Amino acid sequence: MLQWSSQYETGVPLVDTQHKVLFEHINKLEAMTHSSHIPAGDVDRLVHFLEGYVVNHFKFEEQCMNRYHCPSHEENIQAHAAFLAAFGKLKVEYQVQGPTAAFLQKLHTAASSWIHQHILKVDIRLKTVVPKT
Ligand SMILES: [Fe+2]
Repeated sequence: MLQWSSQYETGVPLVDTQHKVLFEHINKLEAMTHSSHIPAGDVDRLVHFLEGYVVNHFKFEEQCMNRYHCPSHEENIQAHAAFLAAFGKLKVEYQVQGPTAAFLQKLHTAASSWIHQHILKVDIRLKTVVPKT
Protein backbone atom coordinates (compact mmCIF):
# COMPACT_ATOMS: atom_id res chain seq x y z
CA MET A 1 0.00 0.00 0.00
CA LEU A 2 1.18 3.50 -0.75
CA GLN A 3 1.02 5.56 2.40
CA TRP A 4 1.25 9.33 2.21
CA SER A 5 3.87 10.99 4.38
CA SER A 6 5.71 14.31 4.51
CA GLN A 7 8.64 12.84 2.57
CA TYR A 8 6.47 13.14 -0.58
CA GLU A 9 5.68 16.84 -0.15
CA THR A 10 6.65 19.06 -3.07
CA GLY A 11 5.83 22.46 -1.58
CA VAL A 12 2.97 22.91 -4.08
CA PRO A 13 -0.27 21.97 -2.28
CA LEU A 14 -2.20 21.16 -5.48
CA VAL A 15 0.57 18.85 -6.74
CA ASP A 16 0.51 17.06 -3.36
CA THR A 17 -3.29 16.76 -3.50
CA GLN A 18 -3.06 15.26 -6.98
CA HIS A 19 -0.39 12.81 -5.81
CA LYS A 20 -2.65 11.80 -2.92
CA VAL A 21 -5.52 11.14 -5.35
CA LEU A 22 -3.17 8.98 -7.43
CA PHE A 23 -2.05 7.07 -4.30
CA GLU A 24 -5.71 6.39 -3.42
CA HIS A 25 -6.49 5.04 -6.86
CA ILE A 26 -3.34 2.93 -7.04
CA ASN A 27 -4.27 1.49 -3.62
CA LYS A 28 -7.76 0.76 -4.98
CA LEU A 29 -6.07 -1.13 -7.78
CA GLU A 30 -4.13 -3.13 -5.19
CA ALA A 31 -7.35 -3.96 -3.34
CA MET A 32 -8.81 -5.22 -6.64
CA THR A 33 -5.86 -7.58 -7.15
CA HIS A 34 -6.76 -9.25 -3.82
CA SER A 35 -10.43 -9.58 -4.69
CA SER A 36 -11.78 -12.93 -5.89
CA HIS A 37 -14.29 -11.27 -8.19
CA ILE A 38 -13.11 -8.35 -10.30
CA PRO A 39 -16.02 -6.53 -11.98
CA ALA A 40 -14.91 -5.52 -15.47
CA GLY A 41 -16.72 -2.17 -15.20
CA ASP A 42 -14.73 -1.21 -12.09
CA VAL A 43 -11.42 -1.95 -13.80
CA ASP A 44 -12.51 -0.03 -16.87
CA ARG A 45 -13.46 3.01 -14.82
CA LEU A 46 -10.19 2.90 -12.88
CA VAL A 47 -8.00 2.53 -15.98
CA HIS A 48 -9.80 5.38 -17.72
CA PHE A 49 -9.70 7.58 -14.65
CA LEU A 50 -5.97 7.02 -14.17
CA GLU A 51 -5.27 7.70 -17.81
CA GLY A 52 -7.06 11.05 -17.85
CA TYR A 53 -5.99 12.17 -14.39
CA VAL A 54 -2.33 11.34 -14.94
CA VAL A 55 -2.19 13.36 -18.18
CA ASN A 56 -3.70 16.45 -16.50
CA HIS A 57 -1.52 16.05 -13.42
CA PHE A 58 1.66 15.75 -15.51
CA LYS A 59 0.76 18.90 -17.44
CA PHE A 60 0.09 20.88 -14.28
CA GLU A 61 3.27 19.69 -12.58
CA GLU A 62 5.38 20.46 -15.65
CA GLN A 63 3.93 24.00 -15.72
CA CYS A 64 4.87 24.43 -12.04
CA MET A 65 8.43 23.25 -12.66
CA ASN A 66 8.72 25.57 -15.62
CA ARG A 67 7.37 28.53 -13.68
CA TYR A 68 9.76 28.04 -10.75
CA HIS A 69 12.75 27.05 -12.93
CA CYS A 70 12.99 23.72 -11.16
CA PRO A 71 16.25 21.83 -11.85
CA SER A 72 14.13 18.69 -12.43
CA HIS A 73 12.07 20.23 -15.22
CA GLU A 74 13.67 18.46 -18.22
CA GLU A 75 14.10 15.17 -16.37
CA ASN A 76 10.48 15.39 -15.27
CA ILE A 77 9.21 15.85 -18.83
CA GLN A 78 11.23 12.83 -19.99
CA ALA A 79 10.10 10.68 -17.07
CA HIS A 80 6.46 11.59 -17.67
CA ALA A 81 6.75 10.73 -21.38
CA ALA A 82 8.38 7.38 -20.52
CA PHE A 83 5.60 6.60 -18.04
CA LEU A 84 2.89 7.46 -20.56
CA ALA A 85 4.57 5.22 -23.15
CA ALA A 86 4.71 2.33 -20.66
CA PHE A 87 1.10 2.97 -19.63
CA GLY A 88 0.08 2.96 -23.29
CA LYS A 89 1.65 -0.49 -23.76
CA LEU A 90 -0.12 -1.81 -20.68
CA LYS A 91 -3.37 -0.43 -22.00
CA VAL A 92 -2.93 -2.38 -25.23
CA GLU A 93 -2.39 -5.53 -23.13
CA TYR A 94 -5.56 -4.67 -21.23
CA GLN A 95 -7.53 -4.31 -24.45
CA VAL A 96 -6.34 -7.75 -25.53
CA GLN A 97 -6.47 -9.63 -22.21
CA GLY A 98 -9.29 -7.87 -20.41
CA PRO A 99 -9.32 -7.32 -16.64
CA THR A 100 -7.31 -10.37 -15.60
CA ALA A 101 -5.68 -10.62 -12.17
CA ALA A 102 -2.29 -10.80 -13.92
CA PHE A 103 -2.95 -7.53 -15.72
CA LEU A 104 -4.08 -5.75 -12.56
CA GLN A 105 -1.03 -7.01 -10.71
CA LYS A 106 1.26 -5.78 -13.45
CA LEU A 107 -0.39 -2.36 -13.66
CA HIS A 108 -0.34 -1.98 -9.90
CA THR A 109 3.34 -2.92 -9.58
CA ALA A 110 4.33 -0.60 -12.41
CA ALA A 111 2.28 2.37 -11.15
CA SER A 112 3.10 2.08 -7.44
CA SER A 113 6.84 1.63 -7.78
CA TRP A 114 7.07 4.32 -10.44
CA ILE A 115 5.16 7.00 -8.53
CA HIS A 116 7.01 6.34 -5.28
CA GLN A 117 10.44 6.62 -6.89
CA HIS A 118 9.49 9.44 -9.24
CA ILE A 119 8.12 11.73 -6.52
CA LEU A 120 11.12 11.15 -4.26
CA LYS A 121 13.72 11.51 -6.99
CA VAL A 122 12.23 14.15 -9.30
CA ASP A 123 9.11 15.90 -8.01
CA ILE A 124 10.34 16.85 -4.54
CA ARG A 125 13.03 19.07 -6.04
CA LEU A 126 10.17 21.53 -6.52
CA LYS A 127 10.42 22.15 -2.79
CA THR A 128 13.84 23.71 -3.25
CA VAL A 129 12.55 26.39 -5.66
CA VAL A 130 8.93 27.11 -4.69
CA PRO A 131 8.68 30.33 -2.69
CA LYS A 132 7.57 29.67 0.88
CA THR A 133 4.19 31.20 1.69
FE1 LIG B 1 6.56 14.34 -11.99
